[in-house]
Amino acid sequence: MSDKVVLAYSGGLDTSVAIKWLEERHNLRVITFTVDIGNVPDLEAIRQKALKVGAIKAFVVDAKETFIKSFVFPALQADAVYEGQYPLATALGRPLIARLLVETAKKEGATTVAHGCTGKGNDQVRIDVGVAALAPELKVIAPAREWNMTREQTIEYARAHDISVPITRASPYSIDENLWGRSIECGVLEDTWNEPPEDVFLWTKSPEKTPTRPAYLEIGFDHGIPVSLGGEKLEPVALVQRVHDLAGQYGIGRIDHIENRLVGIKSREIYEAPAAMVLLKAHQALEDLVLAKGQLRFKAKVAAEYADLIYNGLWFTGMRRDLAAYVESTQRYVTGTIRVKLFKGNCQIVGRKSPYSLYDYSLATYDKGDAFDQSASPGFIHIWGLPARTQARVQPEPPE
Ligand code: ARG
Repeated sequence: MSDKVVLAYSGGLDTSVAIKWLEERHNLRVITFTVDIGNVPDLEAIRQKALKVGAIKAFVVDAKETFIKSFVFPALQADAVYEGQYPLATALGRPLIARLLVETAKKEGATTVAHGCTGKGNDQVRIDVGVAALAPELKVIAPAREWNMTREQTIEYARAHDISVPITRASPYSIDENLWGRSIECGVLEDTWNEPPEDVFLWTKSPEKTPTRPAYLEIGFDHGIPVSLGGEKLEPVALVQRVHDLAGQYGIGRIDHIENRLVGIKSREIYEAPAAMVLLKAHQALEDLVLAKGQLRFKAKVAAEYADLIYNGLWFTGMRRDLAAYVESTQRYVTGTIRVKLFKGNCQIVGRKSPYSLYDYSLATYDKGDAFDQSASPGFIHIWGLPARTQARVQPEPPE
């Protein structure tokens, strides 16, 4: 009997063709695996399609909760945003997919896993490295990286093998989406001078068309994890979806990023990440209140490292664990409530409170009740300015 392969299956044309191609080209029996992390409308239909095309088994799972709890929230606690712009939705989904592929391969006694990534993106790296870290004995095949077919040839292959080709005109874009965000590239977006046309956006209203009055939202955090909206406790997935809907209505979360891919090229990606944008901003605002200056400065450096590491496919590494442990420690007092104002594409922080706030009214106020001892300042400044005075005496500043 031929070996088995577990294929990450989306139900789209490419991975459907991959089922047949893996059979024909590699003589493998194909088990498909489809995971819903906030992107799949009808899992059962996808399962049926896989079987119809020729898979010997087809698994589908809803992993939304695991995705949010084990991948998205740790990244939120870290404030991980790639190059200051991209909240890493696609990048965070890949290690989870890798882990599930490995688990399924082990259960089913497969020798190989396969995925639909092309050979020029980051996602192939994330899945290949993820699988290698978790099960180095497994072989990985990426059909689209090997077969070198154009879109027309793929359609021809599908027709020849009796695989149904969607009748709807294919989207001019390449899209990946999950609960944390939507990534859109290709087509007219490949010209960096082109403004993204409206048909790129599905989750966010154009700011021109959003309500004329703002909305306010109170987000409650517990140890850096969002747990309530407007005082109502919510489960992780429901909370993210609720923020997503509201922020999208107000046109929040559109990102146009010229990004540096791991494989060395610059690419342009449009993102829609309404929930991520609001939650990241609120989380940081709470940290501003409860973390000391040094903690904030150091944590920002860790955030950049952490974001690079996620982007570069290194989730399952010792380095990630170490950074996660540091981040977890920083969240001890990140408990409190942030009030945001959503209006015309902007999310503004308008209120913050926490039992652990380091903001001390009696120290900050210029009104009565001021507890700051101003008479101590000249002595402090005398010592603080000592090196500057010493240097100026010996090495005077040149005249302008
Ligand atoms: N550039 C993003 C990343 O590397 C998204 C990749 C997938 N994008 C897409 N439109 N299919 O994580």
